[in-house]
Amino acid sequence: MDYPSFFRGRRLRKTQNLRDIVRENVVRSEDLIMPYFVVETDDPDFRKPISAMPGQFQLSLDQLEKQVAEGVALGMHSVILFGIPAKKDYKGSGAYAGDGIVQQATRRLKKAFPELIVITDTCLCEFTDHGHCGLVKQGDTTGEVHNDPTLKLLAKTAVSQAEAGADMVAPSDMMDGRVAAMRQALDANGYAHVPIMSYAVKYASAFYGPFREAAESTPQFGDRKTYQMDPANGREAMREAMADIDEGADILIVKPGMPYLDIVRTLHESFDLPVAAYQVSGEYSMIKAAADNGWIDGTAVMMESLTAFKRAGAKLIITYFTEDFLRLQSK
Ligand code: PBG
Repeated sequence: MDYPSFFRGRRLRKTQNLRDIVRENVVRSEDLIMPYFVVETDDPDFRKPISAMPGQFQLSLDQLEKQVAEGVALGMHSVILFGIPAKKDYKGSGAYAGDGIVQQATRRLKKAFPELIVITDTCLCEFTDHGHCGLVKQGDTTGEVHNDPTLKLLAKTAVSQAEAGADMVAPSDMMDGRVAAMRQALDANGYAHVPIMSYAVKYASAFYGPFREAAESTPQFGDRKTYQMDPANGREAMREAMADIDEGADILIVKPGMPYLDIVRTLHESFDLPVAAYQVSGEYSMIKAAADNGWIDGTAVMMESLTAFKRAGAKLIITYFTEDFLRLQSK
């Protein structure tokens, strides 16, 4: 025999069964969190396709319930809700209104599907007329977002979402100190048991483009670079994560996902909290677009990308592919 002893990786790749038994990472349906966009509207049939996100919709409360019912039947475990209010104002009142659209949707879903984990995105940007995630002085167009005055409103939003029955709140605003503010407010109001899944590491990313159409939350002036992180910075992610852990976060989100797998891996290795990766709108839409053009195999790329999150160390994946994945599993 010529080469008796070198490593032969192909030995364990010979058959599907062999590959299956040595597979290191598997995506499970309970790893996935499905985002939904719910619209405050009088039209119960409202179901508007989001053109930049094929397969995703803005939904009325009725349509949301119908859509979620399908997911639940397929084994969906959790959802994250984004709201599109009928009216916006400079201080994002709809975010913390007792009958705000996210609060209404949460009540509806918890009533219809008590077991379903309903997570609420906690932010002002969908509710402010200027589109920023925090407070901007009325009439000011310099784009200055005021940190500490925003904290009170975010805390109020978290409490009103918990009151509506949210199983978890997910602050995505990137104001400093918001996890502590929310934790204190939740505890003080009898919601000490409600976990905070914090967007601890959220970059100022162009991959959010389609979401801003979906959630109608494009900043009307300026950009989000004074609060979201610079995509060039990896070490800074550690500081952001540590701050959120100190303030009481229960789960750490890294966002976006695919271009930031190094950050997912770093957080997974550095901390013992579960890490969630957010495969954002732009990531989803790129895969859909290429697949719709016949340039890639959409299903295979979806599975590969989800598995890559697990390999990098993500426990959870927030992904618009959740329903597609569940449909595939149930075949
Ligand atoms: C808002 C928020 C955004 C996303 C989730 N929450 C948009 C943004 O920060 O501009 C993006 C999600 C996606 O692109 O899928 N705070």
